[in-house]
Amino acid sequence: MRFSPTVLLFVLAILVATLSPGCSDKLGSTSGEKLFSLHCASCHPGGSNTITPSKTLKTADLQAGMITTPEDIIQKIRNPGPGMPRYTEAMIPEKEALQIARYILRTFR
Ligand code: HEC
Repeated sequence: MRFSPTVLLFVLAILVATLSPGCSDKLGSTSGEKLFSLHCASCHPGGSNTITPSKTLKTADLQAGMITTPEDIIQKIRNPGPGMPRYTEAMIPEKEALQIARYILRTFR
């Protein structure tokens, strides 16, 4: 069976798009963003803080509170300070919490 170069290129393009390592990354970032808008953006629109304005999600403010890793953010989600609701594993499973945490760290700087 013979394929025309056009068909071959097309198949190659699809393969590359599917297999490229960036692909799962993009999926991850989309859901991190979605989960953030769903659970957090009401009080943290654009990484700000509408309740306690000094405690934004920007790197400098996070660092002031010793929050530097995704795990630190998950810790905050599970055990928040005054004014922020606590999210249990039943509400935001560990995997989703990690996606939200990574989204925050790479988005708000
Ligand atoms: C009802 C409003 C509200 C919601 C919803 C909310 N937060 Fe907060 N958040 C706060 C308040 C108020 C603070 C400041 C108090 C504190 O330090 O915990 C805060 C602080 C934080 C901090 C520490 C910021 C700093 O500069 O020290 C992080 C990180 C954070 N929130 C992440 C999240 C994430 C992730 C979600 C969603 C899963 C979320 N928050 C949902 C109100 C909220």
